Order: sequence, then structure tokens, then C-alpha cells
Amino acid sequence: MQGVFFRNGPGRFELGGERYHHWFDGDGFAQRWQIRDGKVSHLGKFVTTQKFVAEQKVGQFLYPTFGTHITRAGVKNNDTINAANTNLLPFEGRLYALWEGGSATEVDPETLETRGLTTWRDDLKSMPFSAHPKVAADGSLWNFGALPGRDQLALYHLKRDGTVANFGVVMVPNLAMVHDFVISAAHLIFLVAPFDVKPDPNRSFLDMHRWTGTGPQAQPMRVVVVAKADLQIRQIFELPPRMSFHLGNAFDDGNTTRFDAVLHEGDPLRELGSLMRGELQKNDPKSASTVQITLDYSSKKATEARLFGVSEFPRVMPHVVGARHHRLAVLGTSPGSKDAILNAVHLLNTDSGKADSYHFDAGWQVEEHVLVPRPNARSETDGYLVGVAQHVAKRETVLTVFDAARISAGPVALAHLPYRAPHCFHGNFLSV
Ligand SMILES: [Fe+2]
Repeated sequence: MQGVFFRNGPGRFELGGERYHHWFDGDGFAQRWQIRDGKVSHLGKFVTTQKFVAEQKVGQFLYPTFGTHITRAGVKNNDTINAANTNLLPFEGRLYALWEGGSATEVDPETLETRGLTTWRDDLKSMPFSAHPKVAADGSLWNFGALPGRDQLALYHLKRDGTVANFGVVMVPNLAMVHDFVISAAHLIFLVAPFDVKPDPNRSFLDMHRWTGTGPQAQPMRVVVVAKADLQIRQIFELPPRMSFHLGNAFDDGNTTRFDAVLHEGDPLRELGSLMRGELQKNDPKSASTVQITLDYSSKKATEARLFGVSEFPRVMPHVVGARHHRLAVLGTSPGSKDAILNAVHLLNTDSGKADSYHFDAGWQVEEHVLVPRPNARSETDGYLVGVAQHVAKRETVLTVFDAARISAGPVALAHLPYRAPHCFHGNFLSV
């Protein structure tokens, strides 16, 4: 196994004695784990965004973030407050630190020095570009940007050279925060949770979201299907009200499309804020689950089948994105655990529902694990499951490598850091 595991997450939550209120607020800290000839090296660096540099200079937070309303300096456009803190994506020789509210920030793949903002086309400057792009089998990249206050969903299709193959905007009434999406051969699929979003200069982006999924007037969760061919909405389906951050993969199957998603009961946006006060959520088996949703274009009905209980961070092998898949990697909680700490990795068989699982010992928590194929892999278990685990009390950070065919056998390799690295949201493995 040779390559670089690129990861990103919020690394700075406090400045000048002031602390952010939400997990999504911190400034991006990019990390690279290089695996070469059986040796591992690690490097981490803050993404020096406009926001980071300006705040560092005065030793104080200046700008509003996702969940903390700070207004010490004016906001010119989305990139004034770009935290570049959600994902790190290698694409055709370049590396991008991603944040869903503004532009991709290019970072040097070797040194992690920040190169600057990326504008894909002159008229798309500072447009939202989500942190969950999908690279299709042909090597092109699909992405979206959500503009909830304006009910607009921007859609991007980039060629391998980074030029824009197609761009479009669709109107989605009552659009709320959309964090992730999936692509199939012919479609782009979005889940829109029931929130009322009212732009308000006196509130954080989080506080502009009001949950409308409970009570007699409860609104549904919508599945918005866009046709890749013309970037127009093909159909909108309705499901019971839930919230979703992350989706797995989608594939078209006759007159249906099937895709997996992690669905959360209620409004988890606010609960994630309590983490910042050290308050852990209870490990409630009813709080979240991974499901496979079938969209039937003839009957206009969406149905869901439960794949797994409490879980998050779904990933598939890169070579099956948009095509029929049979395996989905997720994190989970240990059944006996009182708190909702992710401390298990599972490789789900999406056909049978069976899980190949590994539970870490008490005290460990795990970050997203990604599937990495062996060269010329013949199946979705012909490769590795790679991630990071942290022991908070012992202040240990470790790179974990599982054989994707035998997760329950435990890690086949571990690389311990001599220090603790900030917790990341997302990353991608670039094989060399
Ligand atoms: Fe995410």
C-alpha cells in the first residue's frame, strides 16, 4: 500500500479567549499521512484562508461562522468567511480544501501551503462549492452548492482539466442546508430536510434554520432528482421528516434509482453544538440509521429499507461511484456504550444487510474510514479500509488500516503519532 491519505477538519476553535459554539465552526487544519515503503509520515497545517490570516493578525475572531455569530468585520462575499475545514480532495494533480459555503481553496499537495481560492469560471467567483464532490468513472467531477436563503441549488460538472463542462442552477422551494449528494449514471440526488430558512443578518447560519419536521404541520424530507443530461429537476419524492448529512452511493436500476443515506431523527444540527460544551449525546438506537432508498419514477414513490442502526460517515470504493455497489463502509457506536461516541467500523453488505465489524476498545473514538482498492481490484473487498482513531484521554492519534475482506480481524497495520492531531471530518486516499 503506497500513497497519501489527505484529511481535513476544524482545527482552531478558540482565539483571544473566545470559543466557537459549534463543531462546524473551527478553521481548517489540513493533514497528510504519507505511506511509502512501509513507513508513515504525517504533516498538518492550517489552511491560511483570508479569514484565518486576518483573525490571526489581530488575535481575535472577526467573522461569523456556521454556528457562532461574530460581526467584528464586514463580510464582502462567501469567501470572506470561508473556513476551508471540511474535506481535502486530490483531483488531477491538485489538492483542494473544501468548505460548502464558498470556493475551493487550493493547497500544495506536498507542503500543504495554501495557494489560494479557486474560481472555476469567471462568473462563478465565490459561489458555494460543496465539500462532497463526486468523481465519476470517466474522471470528471460533479458537485453542487446550496444557497438556502435564495432557494437555489447550483450544479457543477468539471472536466478532468478543471474546466467547466456544464453549470446550472435549479430552484428548490424551501431549500435548507444540503451537505452531501450522490450521483448515479444519469442523475444527481439530493436530500432536503424540513427546515424553514430565513436570512437574518442578526443570526448565525445555524440559527436561521428552524426545524419544521414535527407537529401536525410537519413537512416531509424531500428527495430532489436532477437529470445529469440537462441539469433540470426530473422528479421530487417525499419521505417522512428526517435530517441527513451524508449519503453513500447511487445507481440506476431500470425505472428506479437506489441510493444509501444516513438519516437522523429530529434536528441534529443543534445537538452537534452541545459537543462544544463537552455534552455528549446519548447512544440512542433510534437516533440515526443507514438506509437504502429506492426511487420509483413510474409510481412516483420513494421507499426505504434499513441497512444498519446508529451510523455515520458512509463511503464506497472510488471505482463504484455512480454504479451498482455492494459494500458500504460506515462508523458506528458500540451497542453497550452509553454515549454516542463513534468507536466501531463496519463494512456493510448492502445486498444482504450483513456487517463485517470491528469495535475499538473503550476510550477510543474513530474518524471517517475510507475504502482504498488494491491496484486492479476485482471486488469491493479487494483493498483496504483506512482511517484515523483517537484516544482522547491518552492523547493518542493513530492511523488504522484494515483488510477490507476481514474487518472483524482487526487492523492489519497501525501507525501511532507521537502527538495528538486535530479530529478531521473527511479525507481521501491518493494511491501512487
Ligand atoms: Fe460531511
